[in-house]
Amino acid sequence: MSPCYFVIFGVTGDLALTKLLPALYYLSRDGRLPDSLAFLGVSRRDWDNSQWRAFMREQLPKRLGKEYNEDDFQKFVSLFSYTQVVHDRAEHYGNLKQTLGKPREGVCANVVFYLAISPADFTLVVSQLDAAGLSGRLLGNRIVLEKPFGHDLASARALNQHLHRHFEEEQIYRIDHYLGKETVQNLLVFRFANSLVEPIWNRNYIDHVQITVAESKGIGSRAGYFDKTGALRDVLQNHMMQLLSVVAMEPPAQLDDDALRDEKVKVLRSIRPIPCDAVSRYVVRAQYGAGDGAVRYQDEPGVAENSVTETYVAAKFYVDNWRWSGVPFYLRTGKRMAQDSTIVSLRLKQPPLQLFHGTPMDKVEPNWIVLSIQPDESMHIELQAKEPGLDMSTRTLQLHASFRDENERQLGAYETLLMDVIEGDHSLFIRFDEVEWSWKVVDPILRQFSLDRDFIQSYPAGSWGPEESSQLFDSSNQSWRNYI
Ligand code: BG6
Repeated sequence: MSPCYFVIFGVTGDLALTKLLPALYYLSRDGRLPDSLAFLGVSRRDWDNSQWRAFMREQLPKRLGKEYNEDDFQKFVSLFSYTQVVHDRAEHYGNLKQTLGKPREGVCANVVFYLAISPADFTLVVSQLDAAGLSGRLLGNRIVLEKPFGHDLASARALNQHLHRHFEEEQIYRIDHYLGKETVQNLLVFRFANSLVEPIWNRNYIDHVQITVAESKGIGSRAGYFDKTGALRDVLQNHMMQLLSVVAMEPPAQLDDDALRDEKVKVLRSIRPIPCDAVSRYVVRAQYGAGDGAVRYQDEPGVAENSVTETYVAAKFYVDNWRWSGVPFYLRTGKRMAQDSTIVSLRLKQPPLQLFHGTPMDKVEPNWIVLSIQPDESMHIELQAKEPGLDMSTRTLQLHASFRDENERQLGAYETLLMDVIEGDHSLFIRFDEVEWSWKVVDPILRQFSLDRDFIQSYPAGSWGPEESSQLFDSSNQSWRNYI
């Protein structure tokens, strides 16, 4: 049965305004939400419903842009009420409980608590919800936590233990919004629904894999969060590890929650640990300097003086299993990069070219498979064909296909995931062992970063990152692929 209430903690914050509220607006507009569901916005601000509505009126139209429609907006706002909760004030949770009232029997069953707040407050809010009698198995209430889940392995374990004191595993939703992206799910279809693809998706044919999550924007108003977090924790430990797992995993027996997550965990467990003293050979971190009209990271408002927080990180991993042994996976993510581009690129091995010995075809370009996750949602394959003419020489054939027709609307990641929470489907959420194994991969790197606090490489804003990242490549004929 669907929940009666969807409660958003941190409803005036960046995440709620940029992702959650727009996604819920689209779901409401498209008639996807259950009729019995009401929304409750929660934040520290001492507001009543009318002040909250005035805030929505001021904020939402500019976030929705051309999708804004007055009638849809009125309908959406009418689903909401507001209550103040200062996170450490027990009496506020009492008010919250009163507002929520009793489940309407036969109509709806429980409450979803979405914590779009600073991760530092997760344990406090969970304890307070419990003390107010709002957790517990019998109630069946659900709790949704944003990443990063912990700030290292030990803190992630502590947070998980704390959660489990108050909520059962099936009540917990650990979100990584990359799994809600249709193009990420499409990776599964591309790999496992095409007999052309899967037979070559292994060490016999793949030379190396690159995963890039490049963003052209800087840290905006998020210095308070980002300066303590850095690109490694913010994106690589979660979104990129999830991408890597989906690219590298074995076909799951079924598409149910556990079959899928079991296969992802096997990949994470097979990643070769990077010893602390080898981190500099496997990882490059850097910070954006001024460029392209943007200030350098250290001059962004709210960034600590002489901060060495990385806004860019690139790393090389090996997945030591039968499928991938010896194939390097190069990962990189950065803010203020040359363009927005999330792509997975696989370069294939060269075929034996003896046949063409003595012709210009002695050297040919390798084949590539490139899957673009965003903003372009497409697949691109590069093959070699004969150049027309007398000579035996080649040119590259580009096979390009978009995953979506121009008039097909893109379902946002949060729309998918919020609907899954409402419907109680866990398959696109993270199980704790995935979090744990990802931290195991990242922890030695973090430890080394924390020892090395004096210097950080820099790259000009608007570029593709520091030159030093090329040192990660195993061979001189490998280089970053910056285009689709
Ligand atoms: C978030 C990170 O999880 O993902 C942000 O905290 C990052 O720093 C964002 O910008 C990227 O998400 P998307 O969907 O825009 O690629």
